[in-house]
Amino acid sequence: MKTPVLVELHNVVKHFDISGGFLDRISWRNGKLTQRRTIVHAVNNVSFSIHEGETVSVVGESGCGKSTLARTVMRLYPPNSGEIRYRGERIDNLSRNRMRPYRTKMQMVFQDPYASLNPRMRIRDTITEPILFHNPHLSAHEAAQRAAEVMEQVGVNPDWGDRFPHEFSGGQRQRVSIARALAVDPEFIVADEPIAALDVSIQAQILNLLMDLQEQRGLTYLFISHDLSVVRHISNRVAVMYLGCLCELADAEEIFQAPRHPYTQALISAIPKIGATGFSHVKLTGDVPTPIHLPSGCVFHGRCPHARERCRQDIPRLHALPSGTHVACHGVEEGWI
Ligand SMILES: Nc1ncnc2c1ncn2[C@@H]1O[C@H](COP(=O)(O)OP(=O)(O)OP(=O)(O)O)[C@@H](O)[C@H]1O
Ligand code: SF4
Ligand SMILES: [Mg+2]
Repeated sequence: MKTPVLVELHNVVKHFDISGGFLDRISWRNGKLTQRRTIVHAVNNVSFSIHEGETVSVVGESGCGKSTLARTVMRLYPPNSGEIRYRGERIDNLSRNRMRPYRTKMQMVFQDPYASLNPRMRIRDTITEPILFHNPHLSAHEAAQRAAEVMEQVGVNPDWGDRFPHEFSGGQRQRVSIARALAVDPEFIVADEPIAALDVSIQAQILNLLMDLQEQRGLTYLFISHDLSVVRHISNRVAVMYLGCLCELADAEEIFQAPRHPYTQALISAIPKIGATGFSHVKLTGDVPTPIHLPSGCVFHGRCPHARERCRQDIPRLHALPSGTHVACHGVEEGWI
């Protein structure tokens, strides 16, 4: 049985206007002064839910919008349109003040722990800062005690609280970032490539730590990763993105054993050690188009070996298959794939 929904995304759109200043936008065309805007369509109409205690991973090629989606869910970027709900309450339109209670419930762990920690701050202060900010009634001593508890929980010796980030190894620094995220007792953690910058030998330790913490604290994860073997290991469900669009959402085992969207099939079949069985290998040709000029219809049609005329015109909508997998593909919906 599924647990209640914690986070919901409904048609979330995030675009970046990179037109620059007025002088960058104007040009002469046919004897007229015209103004042109340049928009990066980073996240396009993405909808899905994350249930309490589960790990949903987001995968897709570089630049497909994973980090933008993660930051938009965290309200670090305001969405252009769509809704984000937390326990049923809309949070996409909340003011900074009204968002504050959710800031303790939702925390983020970044790829580069060195960049996300203040190099001039002792790590005890780095961890107590959010505790005191969100719990102003606590004394400094109580906050330090709570910091020591989370440091211990993530495997950082609390006696090292006086040290600075540069005095730690990469893996230890990521443990400190995780401790900082946990310090305010969150329910939901967005982890954007949390092990990608670490030594391979350390990656498994941090991954195991995240999984142990999930079990101990009943955490819910939105996990972003390039590494499909890691995703398979850690996820309950997987969301596949291409050019800012969600093309498939399925249980982790289902997506690795029986991927349905041609892009997912290509992504998974390209990795021999994972290589799902029971579907034909899909070889992609061509480059990923730019998110500034999104292709019409299905954004994948220029590279899809199954594309038909309809694919060039109509945008496929995410629909549910009897297996529970959700796919946005005309071919799957109409049965010609
Ligand atoms: N602040 C920004 N301003 C303008 N464009 C941006 C900004 N952030 C991201 N983009 C663009 O939005 C698109 C999606 O980027 P994003 O970083 O979300 O991709 P990603 O899937 O996380 O990639 P990677 O796997 O390399 O981390 C890219 O084309 C990127 O250049
Ligand atoms: S909608 Fe058409 S182009 Fe897009 S993935 Fe399906 S078959 Fe390919
Ligand atoms: Mg990214």
